[in-house]
Amino acid sequence: MPGFINTHTHAAMAYFRGLADDLPLESWLSGHIWPAEAKHVNPRFVRQASELACLEMAMAGTTCFADMYFFEDEVAGAAADFGLRAVIGEGILDFPTPNAKTPDDGLRVTGELLAKYQGNELISVAVAPHSIYTVNGENLKKCAELAQASNAILHIHLSETQKEVEDALRDFKKTPVEYLEDAGVLSGNVLAAHAVWLDRTEVRLMAERKAKVSHNPASNLKLASGIAPISAMIAAGVTVGIGTDGAASNNSLDLISDMKLAGLLHKGIALDPTCLKAREILKMATVNGADCLGLAGKTGCLEPGKRADLIAIDLNAPNLQPLNNIYSHLAYALHPGDVTEVMVNGKFIMQNREMKTMDAERIIKEAKLFIAK
Ligand code: NI
Repeated sequence: MPGFINTHTHAAMAYFRGLADDLPLESWLSGHIWPAEAKHVNPRFVRQASELACLEMAMAGTTCFADMYFFEDEVAGAAADFGLRAVIGEGILDFPTPNAKTPDDGLRVTGELLAKYQGNELISVAVAPHSIYTVNGENLKKCAELAQASNAILHIHLSETQKEVEDALRDFKKTPVEYLEDAGVLSGNVLAAHAVWLDRTEVRLMAERKAKVSHNPASNLKLASGIAPISAMIAAGVTVGIGTDGAASNNSLDLISDMKLAGLLHKGIALDPTCLKAREILKMATVNGADCLGLAGKTGCLEPGKRADLIAIDLNAPNLQPLNNIYSHLAYALHPGDVTEVMVNGKFIMQNREMKTMDAERIIKEAKLFIAK
C-alpha cells in the first residue's frame, strides 16, 4: 500500500519526549519547551534527534513527513540519509530562534533552503511562520509572498487553542482564519496544523480558499486543546490530512495510532459511528496527506507516474486475522510492527524490519546518551 504521510511534526523534538507532560499548551511551551530549546537546540542536536524521529517514523510505515523546526537543513539531511521524503520548514517567529535572530533572518534561511533543494527528488521546502500569535501581520505577509513566489506551501499552526481565538478576537477583532484571509494569506498552498477552534464561517472560508488542514488528534487531546471539527471540514470539502505533531506532545511519531484515534474520536463526539469511515481514515493518511503537502503529483497513492513510496504489511500478524476487510484492519487493527517493508522513491529503506539505509543501533545508542534537563 502507499506509505503513510505525516502532515505535521517537529522531528527534532523526539529528544524532548517525556520532558514535560500533563500541562496546558502555554505553560508547556513557555515554561518547559522553549527553555529546553534555548539550552539544547543546535545543528548537531537537530540532526541526531531528527535521525531518531526518522527511524521511528520509517519503522511505523511513514514514507513522508512535513516538519517545522529550527536548523531545518539538518532535518533535510537526516531525511535524505534515510531516503525519506520530507517537506521542511524553518520556523519563523518575531523573536529570536536558535537559528535566526530576526524574522527576516528566518525568511533568508528559508530562501536559502528553497534554492538549495530546488528540484530535489526527496526534499521540498515550505515557508513556516509558527503561528498568528508569534508572527505579526507584516511578517506573515512576507511569508505568504515568499511561498507564492516559490510555489511552496505555507505551513502554520492555526487555531490550536481557545486562547488563540480569544486573543485574536481581542487584538484583531477577527477569528484566526478571518485574520489570515484579511491579510491575504489564506489560499490553496496553506497547510494549517490543528485548526481545532474553527467555527462554521471559518470552515467555509477554508474550503473556499482550498486551504488544507493537518489534524493532530493525539497532541490536541494530550494538551487538552480540544477536538477539531474534522467531520464538518470534510463535509465542507476541506482536504484534511493527519499529523502526529512533535514527540514532546504526542508522545509518539507513529501515524497509525493517530489514524485510529481520529476514527474513534469523531465517532465518539458526534455520537455517530458512520463518521470517518475506515477508507476515509486511510485516505487522510495517504492521498490527502500528499495533497496537503503539495505532493499529489508525486506520492500518496500507487499508480503509474507516481513515485514508488510504498510499504508492505505482514498479514500473518495475529491482530490482522481473519482478513474480513483489509480497510478495516488497516484503519483499526494495524500495529506499527506489522509494517515489514518500506520503500521511498523506489529505494528500500527497510526490509523485513531491518533498516537498510541507516544504522538503527547507533541512532538509539546516541539517543540514550541524551537526557534533557
Ligand atoms: Ni506543532
